[in-house]
Amino acid sequence: MDGALVSFLQDCIGLLGRWLGESADQGVRPLLSVQPAAEPEALPLTEQRLLNDLQGLMGGAFRPNHPGALAHLDPPALTVSMAAELLAAGLNNNLLAEELSPSLSRLERGLCRWLAQRIGLGTEASGVPASGGSLSNLMALVCARRATGLAHDPRAVVVTSAAAHVSLAKAVAVMGLPGDALVAVPLRPDGRLDPAATAETLRRLRQQGRPVLAVVGTAGTTVQGLVDPLPDLADLCSEQGLWFHVDGAIGAVCALVDDQRWRVRGLERADSVTLNPQKLLGVSKPSSLLLLRDPSQLEASFATGLPYMEAPRGGIHGGELGLQGTRGAEVLKLWLCLRHLGLSGMGDLIGGAMERAANLRASLPGPDLQCLAGDLHLVTIGRPEGSGDAVPWREAAHGLLLREGFWLSRPDLEGRPLLKAVLGNPYTTPEHLQRLADLLQISTSLPLR
Ligand SMILES: Cc1ncc(COP(=O)(O)O)c(C=O)c1O
Repeated sequence: MDGALVSFLQDCIGLLGRWLGESADQGVRPLLSVQPAAEPEALPLTEQRLLNDLQGLMGGAFRPNHPGALAHLDPPALTVSMAAELLAAGLNNNLLAEELSPSLSRLERGLCRWLAQRIGLGTEASGVPASGGSLSNLMALVCARRATGLAHDPRAVVVTSAAAHVSLAKAVAVMGLPGDALVAVPLRPDGRLDPAATAETLRRLRQQGRPVLAVVGTAGTTVQGLVDPLPDLADLCSEQGLWFHVDGAIGAVCALVDDQRWRVRGLERADSVTLNPQKLLGVSKPSSLLLLRDPSQLEASFATGLPYMEAPRGGIHGGELGLQGTRGAEVLKLWLCLRHLGLSGMGDLIGGAMERAANLRASLPGPDLQCLAGDLHLVTIGRPEGSGDAVPWREAAHGLLLREGFWLSRPDLEGRPLLKAVLGNPYTTPEHLQRLADLLQISTSLPLR
């Protein structure tokens, strides 16, 4: 055994253990920190200098495990995920090709099959990991465009809701489609997608001679955590022979758990689903997958042949199943987390987040604050519509909450300033939530500038 290697790793684990352990006593967002130099020096640094630099950098890092860290969809990582990241880096296998990752390639294929089948996409379903939900959405639309025979049609459009994630606009641009190729269906006043308006949009596009390469439903919108009426969208798609993609970056994990699946009903009828374990399951970033009812669409869209690699034993090279070539073993942390949690642990994590969101909603004071509709673990809060002080209130409330150890984010929804709490942090207790609700109440009587 290499003693120096083990000793350095142990020192790093010690640093991490201290950083995680002290988080609750530090500011939820870093204040001042010592930023180490970005560039290398002429000679190697000692291990002690490296550790000092690391400590400085960690002092300036965002602390997802602080109990008041509620701003974004970035929960603390599970311990087994951290361990798996270390092991994956040490193994340094490459999921590009089976010869570079024999056991991990097999594991990846097996786990993708299990996930796709578990969420209900059918007995042939499978998929591929991707480094983030934006990439999964892009690959889904590339598959959809080829499968619908529109790969070379510049008139093709994607139909989605006005609350869909910005990654779809990026995907359409990368695919070389014009700006108007992303067609946003208007929302109902509560922020939900209207199936009748979707049907009307599809009718109008047919009249205009614009073929639809995919309809994209969202299982968990980024600001409100709303789930589109997926069964209605699935009906429309099957009636009209359209590809149905569900961006489930936030909510698709609910379909893994029997007593949470109802939240994303209809997702099982999709042709493709983006699922991000990094958002609610505590798997460290990045962890996303594109899962497909017919996984041969991946090969059909992305296979190039890899003439510099041995033929794979299990079908096709991992690097021919998506846009990425070299890929690290993201599957290792996902597999270890899921094995560690079991179905019951996944249910506890997801159920706990939903319960915290329901508790916060229930204890939020009216009538000075309004809680927007939400279907998952996001709670979005604003001043009642029409009150003229929404911007100064939000700034004052945000500042008060930060001083008291709570960080909420400040999204704008169609120009309306809001505060958003994401309740995916298991360190947030019922007492924290009560304090948060009390502070929000206080915020409504702060003097505003
Ligand atoms: C609904 C939805 N889809 C896609 C994404 C993009 O995921 P990523 O940031 O992993 O690329 C996000 C990110 O927040 C999201 O909320």
